[in-house]
Amino acid sequence: MTEQVNVIRDTAMLGEDRQGEVYANTQTTDFHKAFYIESYGCQMNFSDSEIVASILQKEGYGPTHEIDHADLILINTCSIREKAEDTVRKRLRVFDKVKQKNPGTLVGVLGCMAERLKEKFLEEERLVDLVVGPDAYRDLPTLISSAEDGDKGINVFLSREETYADIAPVRLDSNGVTAFISIMRGCDNMCSFCVVPFTRGRERSRDPFSIVAEATDLYQRGYKEVTLLGQNVDSYKWASPDGDHEISFAKLLTMVAEVHPDLRVRFSTSHPKDITDDVLYAIRDYENICKYIHLPVQSGNSRVLELMNRTYDREWYINKVNRIYEIVPDCAISSDMIAGFCSETDAEHEDTLTIMDIAQYSMSYMFYYSERPGTLAAKKYEDDIPLKVKKKRLSEIIVKQNELSLNHNQKDIGKTFSVLIEGDSKKSDLDFKGRNTQNKMIVFPKKGHYKTGDYVNVTVTEATSATLIGNIVEA
Ligand code: SAH
Ligand code: SF4
Ligand code: F3S
Repeated sequence: MTEQVNVIRDTAMLGEDRQGEVYANTQTTDFHKAFYIESYGCQMNFSDSEIVASILQKEGYGPTHEIDHADLILINTCSIREKAEDTVRKRLRVFDKVKQKNPGTLVGVLGCMAERLKEKFLEEERLVDLVVGPDAYRDLPTLISSAEDGDKGINVFLSREETYADIAPVRLDSNGVTAFISIMRGCDNMCSFCVVPFTRGRERSRDPFSIVAEATDLYQRGYKEVTLLGQNVDSYKWASPDGDHEISFAKLLTMVAEVHPDLRVRFSTSHPKDITDDVLYAIRDYENICKYIHLPVQSGNSRVLELMNRTYDREWYINKVNRIYEIVPDCAISSDMIAGFCSETDAEHEDTLTIMDIAQYSMSYMFYYSERPGTLAAKKYEDDIPLKVKKKRLSEIIVKQNELSLNHNQKDIGKTFSVLIEGDSKKSDLDFKGRNTQNKMIVFPKKGHYKTGDYVNVTVTEATSATLIGNIVEA
């Protein structure tokens, strides 16, 4: 039996309200039941869906991309902004119709919205059978069987230990070249605007040896790039049970880099406060640790940063950026920005635009503030910036980033980069696409015997704000 699976994703990393293309992969095992899964939100959610797929496969559930053929429909949800939750509710209306057509089909809500709304979800969404939070996926088989008997299943217990370290993810949307490895879960930071500490619980780090084993296995199966994932990867810290060994994020990076020089290592997302010099030295010293740091600033104004509880101010952040460029001169830095946070003035918004110039971001994810129930900001501050003003400020930030990205990319014209081929370009199967160490996407015509998964040298000939265009050159 050939089964396929859908996940919905785009190219964004952590924190995007993602939706879009449908990817499929083929499994050849025989399963007696089928599940369909859609994932929204950050890369952690996509990674978790692969853990869910692994747990379900052991129960005889195979993936399907035909929602009408599914015995179990799952939606892995995001709560980061109101819009993300609206998208999920719209999809649930579609699933309701499927359920009415195919009685007996179970619908389950996973992830951050399940965690945020808990029992309320079952009251609000009467056709939902399962509500399962991010730390409770091991309980899915039990919850499914009680739902099959007509009892709605809910488990939203947040754990201090769960890292799913022993579960080998089923790579759902794999190109066979790049993969994500979850290294820590949760967040202890309590940024005042953010719902993640409530939906993902306390920070915990995964056993480093299981991480290295997963990276080694991926390399042996032909993968050439791993991205170490976490809400706050650079606060990774693991101590052996006997207390004899402590592994920091910098150390973990080098351990994974040593799996093989041809296995590239990336990481996402890092909080600025935890990017130590040791992390920067690791990036500098290992060719295969990519010269790229996602370093979300959120705002360029110190008063707003204080209200956001980001733990750094404008000057501290600028010093950190300077330190990065000092130790790793060719590093690309990207960011996240929030426009129109509570009480932000026009002048404070200007500070965000100027810090973007100073940091010279290669790209950014940009949002306007969306108040989330239960967060510190929702309790303490008034969401007082009119939507029109939020949108205007956001569009100024976007215009600024487009200029910076174009400028950053134009500087690459004439340079030659080692590019890992990830597959055909979106527009033409005569072209390949791949990224350089700075995480920039490069599109170039196919040539010779090169194939997906190979490293090639590409000289850049043209640049837009989003993409580099080039040609393969022989080494
Ligand atoms: N852990 C990551 C970010 C995770 S959320 C970090 O600290 O960098 C991804 C991004 O969503 C955040 O960086 C922030 O820019 C944005 N975001 C989070 N909460 C938001 C809110 N309430 N409104 C608008 N954007 C928000
Ligand atoms: Fe949210 Fe801040 Fe934690 Fe990032 S670091 S997940 S923005 S609380
Ligand atoms: Fe969204 Fe949860 Fe990720 S709120 S951004 S899916 S951690």
